[in-house]
Amino acid sequence: MYHRTLVGTQQRDQCLTTTSELDHAPFRDRFVIDDPQVAYLDGNSLGRLPKATVTRMQHVVSHEWGRALIGSWNQDWLPIARRVGDKIGGLIGAATGETLVCDSTSINLFKAAWALLQHRGSRRTIVTDAANFPTDLYVLDGLRQQVEPELRLQPLVLDHGSHTAVNSVLERVINHDTALICLSHVNYKTGYAFDLSAVTEMAHAHGTPILWDLSHSVGAVPLDLGAAQVDAAVGCTYKYLNGGPGAPAFLMVRKDWLPRLRNPIPGWFGAARPFDFGGTYEPHPGIERFAVGTPPILSLSAVEPGVDLTCEAGIVALRQRGWRLMQRFFELYDQRLQQLGFGLVTPRDRDATGSHVSLIHEDAWQITQDLIQQHRVIPDFRGPDIIRFGITPLYTLGREIEQAVAALESSVTHGTYRSYPQQRRDVT
Ligand SMILES: Cc1ncc(COP(=O)(O)O)c(C=O)c1O
Repeated sequence: MYHRTLVGTQQRDQCLTTTSELDHAPFRDRFVIDDPQVAYLDGNSLGRLPKATVTRMQHVVSHEWGRALIGSWNQDWLPIARRVGDKIGGLIGAATGETLVCDSTSINLFKAAWALLQHRGSRRTIVTDAANFPTDLYVLDGLRQQVEPELRLQPLVLDHGSHTAVNSVLERVINHDTALICLSHVNYKTGYAFDLSAVTEMAHAHGTPILWDLSHSVGAVPLDLGAAQVDAAVGCTYKYLNGGPGAPAFLMVRKDWLPRLRNPIPGWFGAARPFDFGGTYEPHPGIERFAVGTPPILSLSAVEPGVDLTCEAGIVALRQRGWRLMQRFFELYDQRLQQLGFGLVTPRDRDATGSHVSLIHEDAWQITQDLIQQHRVIPDFRGPDIIRFGITPLYTLGREIEQAVAALESSVTHGTYRSYPQQRRDVT
């Protein structure tokens, strides 16, 4: 069966995709898949477990910790945060020595925003997206209230429909008073992807640094932070990089900024020579200055196999496959869902889209419960009315998307979702 799938309006996006082609994910076998009948479309919340991670963890626990004990610091443990950081740097177009794996995304966002804001001079405004992920808004507002009270946070209400709509607002707002712009490249709810290079250029035209949260792009969308001259970035490793629940995040800082940026928490692991145990803090000359305390070796070790798989598959090839799956979703939405009261929130323009499809429906919570409990389809609910389907090109299959669409159709056509309570639980 053939589906002609046209992407956007651009020639390069034209392709003829077969269903069987979409059902062949060359890297799927490298993951633990306990029940192949379950359509897992939540890899943008928590990625699947790579088989190599199981082996790696057995080695780290039994051999590195169990046998080699403290000696492992001098073997694999001290270099790991930089080594994995550089691998992630390769996926986002950062140069060697610009990326470190450490702490959580929230903490890294605070550290990077604080560090950049020390160079604001008389500028007073932090610009962000009102629809940014809550932690980004909380961190920026907390930073403003508790540390830099003279600053003002300007969360913009943006129409995530197109680059033109978003860029025109940013062009009007950014000015000589903008101290920092902080945005999530791909929005966690709508799936909208900012035009990273155009917005970065806009910021720089006003002498403003920009900090990107790449949590919903890294591992799914090719990025070239170096070419765009991005100042700093942060992001999660437990989504498309499959690093495991609560896995440490990454922080990237452009090299020419590094000597000028300080860590607001000058812990010993960010010092130039931690094992000298000196009395005075001297920051490490490199990206390591953004470390704080002892790295969580177990969870850090679990990040590497997922990153290696992504590097092996190649981010450009992954995006190509991921985009075909997205197109398949859009096609099935047009044929079977739009007449049932669902709205498509995610833009259809490849350049303005990450790797998840979001649908809006007034009974989204109950429909999500029906999908999980009756149809073996796992999406995410994002309040008040969004159902989000993550597409992880490493392992998502075309038939999982077909299963999800059939489940949505059945749930609404037969009204089965109405038997679920409207009361929400904490996760999904
Ligand atoms: C865009 C974005 N930023 C930050 C976070 C949270 O990161 P962390 O819990 O590692 O601080 C998330 C979590 O889903 C996210 O989607």
